[in-house]
Amino acid sequence: MTRRVLFITGGSRGIGAGVVAAAARSGYDVAFTYRERRDAAETLLATVRAESPEARCAAYQLDVRDSAAVERVGDQVLDAFETVHVVVANAAITHAGMAIAASDEDWRAVVDTNLTGSFFVARQFLPAFLANGYGRFIFMSSIAANGMSGDVAYSASKAGMLGLSGALAKEYGRKGITSNALLMSLFETEMTMKELSAKNREFYTAHCPVGRIGQVPEVAAAVLFLASDGASFVNGQELGVTGGLDWLH
Ligand SMILES: NC(=O)c1ccc[n+]([C@@H]2O[C@H](COP(=O)([O-])OP(=O)(O)OC[C@H]3O[C@@H](n4cnc5c(N)ncnc54)[C@H](OP(=O)(O)O)[C@@H]3O)[C@@H](O)[C@H]2O)c1
Repeated sequence: MTRRVLFITGGSRGIGAGVVAAAARSGYDVAFTYRERRDAAETLLATVRAESPEARCAAYQLDVRDSAAVERVGDQVLDAFETVHVVVANAAITHAGMAIAASDEDWRAVVDTNLTGSFFVARQFLPAFLANGYGRFIFMSSIAANGMSGDVAYSASKAGMLGLSGALAKEYGRKGITSNALLMSLFETEMTMKELSAKNREFYTAHCPVGRIGQVPEVAAAVLFLASDGASFVNGQELGVTGGLDWLH
């Protein structure tokens, strides 16, 4: 059987990097993007080459806010890998602060990256999915979709991704394409280390029924399940990867 191709945005570090490495180990060829951190992308490429020499893996610079760049890079990926079977919309940023202090620029940067960028990416790969009669969209959302105090734009963008995923599930389910979202709680990455207050960190560990913060391989395993043939009847769903902590203050 030919190898499946997984494309993921923001794969250079954090959860994305965990998904890239796990997908390569599981038999996928992987195309991933980074925005600025070429160093992190190069390090990851070297890791994948060492761990999974049979996997084809390539990194592309991309700012998902730029629809022309999404089209250009998307076409480069399709040319290089011939097709794409799984798209993971993962690139995201946060902006900590209360709603009253959020500027136009803060709002736009977060929503343009997390939500609009995810839409640009999904739209770019739909023709390939339709041509194959097969495709898996996976949107990396968060329990912040229900509202998280201290980042209104992030909360709104993550809620928007659920609507985006649900609409794609309904529009293209009959074409062999599934679309699902992961609702994640807290995982140890640069994003959370940078923005998470000590109070919020304490909240997560105190209230999570599993009693700890999540580990990146635990998200990667959920992504690989949604990407698998076994998940062919899982469509339009929001899968919690939260250790049981399904709410925020
Ligand atoms: N960590 C958590 O606890 C947690 C919880 C719930 C949901 N999530 C979601 O999981 C996903 C990954 O989170 P993470 O913690 O791994 O994040 P992270 O460590 O901050 O990594 C973010 C990634 O997104 C890329 N990126 C940022 N802005 C971009 C843009 N405009 N265009 C293209 N790429 C861009 C970054 O590229 P550079 O490296 O080049 O900057 C990086 O690869 C996000 O969707 C996040 O909302 C995370």
